[in-house]
Order: sequence, then structure tokens, then C-alpha cells
Amino acid sequence: MAKLLPVDEFDLIIFGGTGDLAMRKLLPALYHRDRDKQFTGASRIIALGRSKLSRKQYLDTVETALRANLAKGEFDTAFWKKFAARVEYHQVDASSPANWDALVKTLGGHEERIRVAYLATAPSLFGPIAKGLKKNALITPSSRIVLEKPLGRDLQSACEINDQVGKCFRENQIYRIDHYLGKETVQNLLALRFANSLFEPLWRRGAVDHVQITVAEDLGVGGRVEFYDRVGALRDMVQNHLMQLVCLTAMEAPSSLHHDAVRDEKIKVLRALRPIDQAAVRTNTVRGQYTAGAIKSETVPGYAEELGGEVSATETFVALKLEIDNWRWSNVPFYVRTGKRLKDKHSEIVVQFQDVPHSIFPQQKYDVVPNRLTIRLQPDEGVKLSLMAKEPGPGGFNLRSVSLDLSFEETFELRYPDAYERLLMEVLRGNPALFMRRDEVDAAWEFIDSIIEGWEETSQKVETYVAGSWGPTASSMLLDRDGRAWYPDG
Ligand code: BG6
Repeated sequence: MAKLLPVDEFDLIIFGGTGDLAMRKLLPALYHRDRDKQFTGASRIIALGRSKLSRKQYLDTVETALRANLAKGEFDTAFWKKFAARVEYHQVDASSPANWDALVKTLGGHEERIRVAYLATAPSLFGPIAKGLKKNALITPSSRIVLEKPLGRDLQSACEINDQVGKCFRENQIYRIDHYLGKETVQNLLALRFANSLFEPLWRRGAVDHVQITVAEDLGVGGRVEFYDRVGALRDMVQNHLMQLVCLTAMEAPSSLHHDAVRDEKIKVLRALRPIDQAAVRTNTVRGQYTAGAIKSETVPGYAEELGGEVSATETFVALKLEIDNWRWSNVPFYVRTGKRLKDKHSEIVVQFQDVPHSIFPQQKYDVVPNRLTIRLQPDEGVKLSLMAKEPGPGGFNLRSVSLDLSFEETFELRYPDAYERLLMEVLRGNPALFMRRDEVDAAWEFIDSIIEGWEETSQKVETYVAGSWGPTASSMLLDRDGRAWYPDG
């Protein structure tokens, strides 16, 4: 097992400390890291919120959240007491820099510690909070600020937020989170590509036919429907998570794992993406919205019903055909899709290699199926390589597609840490490699803005799909037109 290195003493301030992200992800992640003895000295977690709560009331809420969100058997009553001793709560109105006295007082005298402000709030508060930290003289040389997604809703709003935060923090103090970059299998993509020489000669046009990236969720929008209706799948998932997966799959080898070396290569991919403009939206994009259906035999309502019967043009599904205009990927399409209320929670990257140039097995019962490398992100993280093999036995030469299948969980027999555990530790260590640099966010928004403009200008239809399916028929047609089909069976 990898050795877990402790981090220096810190004060981690969570703005939005009573919110869903803090309860479901941040506090459980911190609990795990503390339990694995990575926190030193009197490191503190200082939660802030608008509600007037006593420390005891806040801790009760955290305890309930940990019991609900940790896996079975992971809540340890004796350890909880130690962890709770690190947690404070203060009422702060983040929208105004006034009345931050409680925070100023609690941080006073601890300037030598690593100080991290984690902004798990609406993006409209990022600028005011950065300003509040500056105005109250709370930014020390070792301070860092973490910005949760969504970072704005288009290039212009993202630039405004980045400008406001940039007036108070230097770029190397700003950590823009995309939690997909903290997922073990996403990092394993780097290991697969750059710690093995096997794939590199094949990872290009001439050998690869096309690439598919699917991030499918079976859940609907649930309690986030109001927020979601203003955002939609393109902004919520594609601008960040799917773009990052495309970058890591398509980028050239960085010269090292230094954060700027990796980010320099990722941004070259974003800049090489052929813009999907008004003329291309119809052929290269699909938008969908779910209607009522059944998932794993449970009946679920449609999106419009969740919205209270309102008519909405917000997409809960997107499929895109992307072209990367560079030497490695010219004429190798990347098809990406994501959606809510699909058949299964299932995310994977499929690299489909080319057909054999000439089959010497013309009389076969089965076709020679092209090789395929599947990188499964969730669930059951792993890597699968599909190969053709001869079925054993006499009586002809029958071919069958079989797989070399590696399940990381079975191979490593370890608990898979949540992405936030990794990302929080990277912030505390001051390593921004797994976070997005400003120019990456800008380039991703520029690409997405052009699709949104195209949709608006052409009034592109939002197709419907039944909950529990793999999305609208138009998504299958997107590949069908090119003589291809989605895996596994969408
Ligand atoms: C978030 C999106 O960024 O990612 C959610 O806002 C989505 O809508 C979630 O459900 C998916 O994350 P994961 O880790 O469950 O794949």
C-alpha cells in the first residue's frame, strides 16, 4: 500500500459549510484522511454558513451526515470525538465582507499555518468572498483558495469571476476543482498511457478508428432541479468533466508531471478542437430530456414533472461528435455523451482500433470484431482489452471476441478513496496539477459557448428519451451515420 504522508498543520475554512457538498463529500473526505493519520497538530476545519447554529448543533448535523454518507462500518464513535474536536462553526454572511469578526478572531495568531478557503457556494459569491478575505487581511503568503464548479455559465461570467478572484489571489494560489481529475481511474489513464510503452505507437490516427466517452447517470436531477434548469447537461458535465476526459485521452505526453507541463498539453487539445458552430450543431450535437420511465424496475417521473409541470428546453442529455484538428487525431472522431436517468450509472472511455486490413477468415460464423480498449471509470474501475481468439475445439476455425479484463479493486484489494480525499490533500500540499488553470477554463468555455450559440440560433430541438434508456434515438443516429454504434448497447 502507498505510504500516506502527513500534511503540515492547517486551517481549512469551508464557505458553504452547511451545504450539500460539505456534508456529502468534503467532511466525509476529511474524516477519512484524518483517520488515516494525515492531519498533524491542531489542524482545524472551520465551517461557515449563514445559519445561526451553535457548535454543538453543527456537530450534530455533521455526525448525522457522516453516518449517512460513510460506507457501512466506517463510522467509528471513538474516532469521531477526535475528529469533531477539529471542527468549528461560525455564522458569516459571505456576500458581504462586514461582520466577519468571528472568523478574523478564530484565525488570529495562526498565520504560520497553511490556510485554505474552500468556496462550496454559488459562483456569484466567489468574487465577494475573495474580496472579504482580502479586506479582513486574512490572506497569508501560504493561503490558497479553492473554487468549486460551475465556474460561471459562459466565458464572460467565468472571466469576471476569475478577474475578481485574481485581484486578491495569485494564479498559483487558486485551485479550480473538477472532481473528475481526482478520480483514481482518471489518474490511471495517465499511468496507462505514459507508464506503458505498449499503447503509444497505436494511440493515434492510422491505428485508432474512433474514441467514445460515456458518463451516464441513472439518477435524475432530484432536489437540484431549480439550479439544474438554469444550467443543463452541457454546462454541468461537458464543459468540465467530459472536456477533461477528452484532454487526458488525447493529449501528448507531458515532459514531466509538473502541473504546468500537464496543463500545457491539455490546453493544446482544447485549442485544437474544431469549433462546433451554427452550421455544425445539427450534425454534430444532440440534446435530450428524459420523460417518465423505469430504472431497474422502479418507475421514475420525467424531468418536466420534476419541474412541476413546466415546459423547459433544458437538456438532461448531450451527445457530441468532436474533431481534434492536429496530426495525431485528424479524422479520428471523439464521440462523447452524458445524461441523467439513463439505464445505468456507468462511465467509460472506449478506444476503438481499426478493422483488420484484410480478413483471412472469410468463412467465419462471426465477424472479426475490431480490438477495443475500454477504460472503466465507474463502477468497477478497470481496463479491458477485447481481442479476437479462436474458439477451442475441432470442427472448424471459429473466432470469438474475448477480453483481457483487469478489475482494479480485485487487483489492489484496497478501498477506493473518493476524489475529494485526493483533491483536498493536493490543495493542502500546494500541488495544483489536478486543478484547472485559468486558460483551460477559458478555452473550455469558448468551445461550449459556440455550441450554445448554435443551439439558440438554430432553435435546435430538445429530443425526448424515456428514463431508463440510453438517450434519444438521435444519439444512436449520430454514430450510425458514420457506420458506428455506441458501446455497450446504447
Ligand atoms: C457534478 C454534477 O459535477 O458531477 C452532477 O454537477 C453530477 O450533476 C456529478 O451528478 C457526477 O459526479 P460522479 O462523481 O457521481 O460521476
